[in-house]
Amino acid sequence: MTIQKVGVVGCGLMGSGIAQVCAQSGFPTVVREVNSELVEKGLKGIEKNLARLVEKGSLTETARNEIRGRLKGATAIDELKDCDLVIEAIIEQLPAKRELFAALDTLCPAHTIFASNTSSLTVTEIAAVTKRPQRFVGLHFFNPVPIMKLVEVVKTIATDPAVYEEMISFGAKLGKTPVRANDSGGFIVNRLLVPYLLDAIRALEEGVGSVVDIDNSMKLGCGYPMGPFTLLDFVGLDTTYYISQIMFDEFKEKRFAAPPLLKRMVLAGWHGKKSGRGFYDYSDPANPKPMSL
Ligand code: 3HC
Repeated sequence: MTIQKVGVVGCGLMGSGIAQVCAQSGFPTVVREVNSELVEKGLKGIEKNLARLVEKGSLTETARNEIRGRLKGATAIDELKDCDLVIEAIIEQLPAKRELFAALDTLCPAHTIFASNTSSLTVTEIAAVTKRPQRFVGLHFFNPVPIMKLVEVVKTIATDPAVYEEMISFGAKLGKTPVRANDSGGFIVNRLLVPYLLDAIRALEEGVGSVVDIDNSMKLGCGYPMGPFTLLDFVGLDTTYYISQIMFDEFKEKRFAAPPLLKRMVLAGWHGKKSGRGFYDYSDPANPKPMSL
C-alpha cells in the first residue's frame, strides 16, 4: 500500500513540525489537538514557519497556499478515521499514549499504520494495547522538525517487514534521512546523546569548566551546532530528566543516571529555554546569562 492521507495527534512543538513536513511533502494531513485553542496555536506556528520560508524566497506564495490547503486542524478524534498513517506526538506518558492508541485502533480501518514519536518509551509496550502490533512502528523526529534531517524508524519484534519498509520510504518522502533502529531504550540518538548531555552536567558539577567554556569546547572543538548546555536548555531539562530515568530503568547503568544538579534544577522549575531559565537565564533573550556554580 502507499500512504495517501496522514493523521498527526498532538500539535505542540513536535506534532506541529511533523504536520508541517507532511503537508509540505504533499500529504493531505489532519492534525488533532484536545481543544481548538491548542489547534490554533499549533497552526499559527506552522503559518509563521511557512511565512519565513516565503520571505526568504525558498517557498512561493502558491506553494504556501497549497500546503495550507492540505492541512486541516481537528479536535475530534473521529477526523482521523480515514487516515492511512497516524503519527502520535502527544505527552511522553505511557498511559496517555496507550489510551489514545486503544481508541484509534477501534476507529481506524485495518490497513492504517500507527506510529509513535516517542523518544524513550518502549514502542512494543505502546503497540501491545492495539490489535495491530504488526502495523506499528516508532517514527522519532528531531527538534526543530522542519530543519532536522533525521527520522529514526523504529522496528519492534512484532512489526511486519513490509510495513517497516513502507515507513522507511515514507521517511524519505518527507525529505528526511531515515535510519533503521530497533526498539531499544532511546533508540540510536538518545542512546548516545543522553549520556553525553549528562556527562556535561557531571563535568560542571566537578568543576572541570564553566557552562560557557564547556559549551564553547564542544561547539568550537567538535563542530557541534550547540554546546551541551545550550542544547539541554533547548530540549528541556524536564524532558532530558524524564528520558534519563526511563533509560536508567531499562539499562541500570550509571551513564544514564541523572546527576543531582539536573534533578534539583527540574524540581526548582528551571526547565530550560521554555521556562525562561535553565543553564542560562533568558530574562534578556538576546543575551542569555550562564549559570555559575
Ligand atoms: N523552526 C523552523 N526553522 C528554524 C527553527 C525552528 N524552530 N529554528 C531555526 N530555524 C531555521 C532558521 O530559519 C534558519 O534557516 P535558514 O538557514 O534557511 O535561514 C536555520 O534554521 C538556521 O537557524 P539560525 O541561523 O537561527 O540558527 P542556527 O544556525 O544556530 O540553527 C538550529 C538553529 C538548527 C536549531 C541549530 O542550532 C541546531 O541544529 N541545533 C541542534 C539541534 C538538535 O540537536 N536537535 C535535536 C535535539 S534532540 C531531539 O530532538 C530528540 C529528543 O528525543 C530529545
